[in-house]
Amino acid sequence: MEKDIRILAIESSCDETAASVSVNGEIRSNIIASQIDIHRLYGGVVPEIASRNHLLNISAVVEHAVAESGLSLEDMDCVAVTHGPGLVGALLVGVSYAKALSYSLGCRFMGVNHMQSHISACFLAGARPPFICLVVSGGHTMIVNVKDYTEFELLGTTRDDAAGEAFDKVARVMGLEYPGGAKLDELAEKGDPFSISFPLAMLGEDNYDFSFSGLKSAVLSHLNTMKMKGEEYKKEDVCASFRRCVVEILTEKTVKAALSTGAERISVCGGVACNSLLRRELSRKAAENGMSFYVPERVYCSDNAAMVARAAYHKYLKGEFSDLSLNASPSLML
Ligand code: KG4
Ligand code: ZN
Repeated sequence: MEKDIRILAIESSCDETAASVSVNGEIRSNIIASQIDIHRLYGGVVPEIASRNHLLNISAVVEHAVAESGLSLEDMDCVAVTHGPGLVGALLVGVSYAKALSYSLGCRFMGVNHMQSHISACFLAGARPPFICLVVSGGHTMIVNVKDYTEFELLGTTRDDAAGEAFDKVARVMGLEYPGGAKLDELAEKGDPFSISFPLAMLGEDNYDFSFSGLKSAVLSHLNTMKMKGEEYKKEDVCASFRRCVVEILTEKTVKAALSTGAERISVCGGVACNSLLRRELSRKAAENGMSFYVPERVYCSDNAAMVARAAYHKYLKGEFSDLSLNASPSLML
């Protein structure tokens, strides 16, 4: 019988300190200490505060993840950690901690790309390569051809704001608390999505790229006009109309990529994959085109370490380890 592969994974790229243990790619524990309540006071993530809180939380989060897995630290074959992209100070906390831990345990060490981790959440949802993956988070918007568990081809990306960033900025001007994406989604459920028409940027263009800054400006200008005229507006309608546009652009381009590559499966991941309309629309359009659709549970969409553990498992099988000279890479590409 082959030996089990036991991995401890650590994530600290932004404002979540997280740790997870996997055995042969199956998740045994998934602990997340979110700093959202702290950063909300400032209307966004304050990098220095994020690093300090990772330092405060990381030992307890790792201990908790190991205890809940029913294994001990000494059982681990590898310590994996997000080394980019992300906030450099935040990444450094995880990378330094993981290096020291793997050295003291005498086990393997591995740096994992945060975007590869988000995509690997789709494996946890049952997606098997090849498939087309829409990756939508606070910092990234990408359409990726997932050729194999560790092999990716970037088909398109955003030219300006990421989808999550657009959600957060529009939410902010409407007075919703940071991070506003989830709250905007909630309000949109109660509004009329066809009450206002905003521009659908780059929808007709023959590429897989996105641009959300024009749409964002159109919403801001609509709100300003209403204010200047002293007219009442329903927040729910603005949220619903804005969300409909973002979702239509994301969905159309993803399905187009799947059709042109002949993919039979599509999936979505990243924090914005929590969006209820995006989940419904992708599922509907996939079915319409005879494709299967995979979406991770919401806890595996926003930042977590289970997705890092799963990505690390596939890298482990390929022997893709790192040495202790690995540094944080804030702008790491997929
Ligand atoms: O993947 P993630 O947790 O962190 C990054 O790696 O960026 O994504 C966070 C982003 C935020 O912009 C947040 O507003 C957005 O995901 N988000 C949502 C929803 N839930 C989280 N956006 C739209 N609808 C949601 N339900
Ligand atoms: Zn992320």
